[in-house]
Amino acid sequence: GKGQHRHFMVKEIYEQPQVIGDTLNTMLNPASRTITLPELPFDLATIKRVTIVACGTSYYAGMVTKYWIEQLARIPVDVEIASEFRYRQPVLVAGDMAVFISQSGETADTLAALRYCRDAGLHTVALVNVAESTIAREATTALLTQAGPEIGVASTKAFTTQLVVLACLAMGIARANGRLTPEQEAHLSQALAEVPARIAEMLRDEDKIRVIAEDVAQARDVLYLGRGPCYPIALEGALKLKEVSYIHAEGYAAGELKHGPIALIDDHVPVVVLCPSDELYDKTASNVQEVIARGAKVLFISDAEGLSKLAVAPMASFTMPMVDPFVAPILYAVPVQLLAYHVALARGTDVDQPRNLAKSVTVE
Ligand code: M6R
Repeated sequence: GKGQHRHFMVKEIYEQPQVIGDTLNTMLNPASRTITLPELPFDLATIKRVTIVACGTSYYAGMVTKYWIEQLARIPVDVEIASEFRYRQPVLVAGDMAVFISQSGETADTLAALRYCRDAGLHTVALVNVAESTIAREATTALLTQAGPEIGVASTKAFTTQLVVLACLAMGIARANGRLTPEQEAHLSQALAEVPARIAEMLRDEDKIRVIAEDVAQARDVLYLGRGPCYPIALEGALKLKEVSYIHAEGYAAGELKHGPIALIDDHVPVVVLCPSDELYDKTASNVQEVIARGAKVLFISDAEGLSKLAVAPMASFTMPMVDPFVAPILYAVPVQLLAYHVALARGTDVDQPRNLAKSVTVE
């Protein structure tokens, strides 16, 4: 049941510290600050390229993973929408690794892509939340998230638990090909181990998001901006808002703004900016100045350092915990979930069962 919560969506948002911790427990050894991946029937060191295939929110988890694997392991990663991948005759090399991300493990297009890769001789790794699902059974290896049943149609805890598994996988690939030093492994493991506590802290500020959501609920269109691994989180934030509030939203890489979407900016279009203080901070902050100069109402989501450095005044801000940039995309997923939820409440939509959507898309 929903317990003390009004909807499954918010219950599942609040479960994240617990289920992320449960998921990390399957791979992270906090004492030694090392990771242990499940036994794989192939040697990760032989992998020359990783193909990741998924749909919807799971696809955005794949996009974040591309940043992680390419940065840490220095091998190329392709991330593909399953319905495109399966019909475009992708060029695949037998012996490479393909990863299929699916909460339900039953998504028809993702399953078809898995079979395509298996027939092409790739090692297929599934990442699912349902151990006995078709995708888990048909893959060479199944990795599991420990999110527990996700009832809300809008995916929340499945996404963040996918991300922590994928972060460990990226570290595992990097370690296998000699690119992750024990010091780095310890440092990143520590950053991951702290994620549940940081999210729990952040959730205490839910009320601030509720207040901001009342404004956003008046909008017809909303833009989400992010850079680097927070770019996929901008896409995820926009998807979440569309799904549960029916407000039109678009996610953009902040650097793309001046290539088109800036034409949309006026004081009726809220702009949600995901901007941790990392090496890309200054770039995104200057995009914020540009849109504020054009009258945009910005919701600036950053940490204390990032907020104090911002030279202009956003309409609203939300303070995130200071974390290692490696785990920032996991944390920044949570305020955009809460924002979508509160905007939906303000609009009176059916949060857990949005119109036209199914929890599991088993037909193409
Ligand atoms: O079960 P899956 O992870 O394969 O589902 C993929 C998408 O259908 C799913 O993420 C969908 O986009 C959600 N409604 C997002 O909230």
